[in-house]
Amino acid sequence: MVHTTMNDAKSWYDNSEVNEFFLNACGDEFNHIGIYEDPNNIQTGGLRATQELLSGIEFKVPGSSTSKRVLDIGSGYGGTARYLADLFGCSVDCVNISTLQNKVNQRKNDEQKLNHLIQIFEADFAQLPFADATYDVVIAQDCLLDAVSKERVFREVHRVLKPQGLFVMSDLTRRDESEVVRAAILQRKWGLGEIVSTQSYLSLGYTVGFQLIRYNDFSENLAIGYADDVDAWADASRQMKTLSQERRQFEQQVFQSWCDAGKAGYLCLSYFRFKKIG
Ligand SMILES: C[S@@+](CC[C@H](N)C(=O)[O-])C[C@H]1O[C@@H](n2cnc3c(N)ncnc32)[C@H](O)[C@@H]1O
Repeated sequence: MVHTTMNDAKSWYDNSEVNEFFLNACGDEFNHIGIYEDPNNIQTGGLRATQELLSGIEFKVPGSSTSKRVLDIGSGYGGTARYLADLFGCSVDCVNISTLQNKVNQRKNDEQKLNHLIQIFEADFAQLPFADATYDVVIAQDCLLDAVSKERVFREVHRVLKPQGLFVMSDLTRRDESEVVRAAILQRKWGLGEIVSTQSYLSLGYTVGFQLIRYNDFSENLAIGYADDVDAWADASRQMKTLSQERRQFEQQVFQSWCDAGKAGYLCLSYFRFKKIG
């Protein structure tokens, strides 16, 4: 695993107060922006987002009882892995850097008797501990924004996919590179990655050897999801003792700017589906 410092994705997600905040704000299944039919119920949107991201993919090998081999990177609390294991009997490997989240994932897999199908690897998605051409489908949901080098992750995903395998990802993206859009979106710091433009993911996919087969925009959900985070963070951060006041205030501004940029149409929620060529 890549060595991590105190101010990076691992220390952020493994801070117990931050973990509590996410559990309260999003629940212990999905930690991504949902597709909200009922804006008052933030947690039901998470499953809808997973269903939409994976819609139309055949997770059973046609004409056989065998299921496809799936990898979920930046897998959070494992809700998407359990969804696939439960519905299709898929064998799913989860890669996630957070020890606290992996513990929740393991506990829920044990409780739901899905642990024979789901394996959790505490690792960095920029350095996947798997052989070439192992998986039929790789999923990355709302997690590549944390990647310091998007290119390294794309190259790793491409390496571990079988030929014709699918890479499905959802992420926050900047609508374009204009000054007004750049200024509206506050970028994270303390070692977390940056939000990049929609076009830069499309170019990266092409550069590493993927073909884009589907793109959807669900940006209207951003303002709903982040308005909720703004309120939840304000409540949680009043009690926090381990993060500096500077950092707590900064994170509040980040959530607010993403909410406002979502409303203004500057920040997008982009769903990409790539196929490995060859
Ligand atoms: C916003 S959460 C999304 C979680 C999950 N994909 C979901 O949709 O519920 C981002 C996830 O990326 C993980 N992550 C961030 N940087 C990572 C890295 N370098 N390697 C592996 N996982 C990472 C975090 O631990 C967290 O689980």
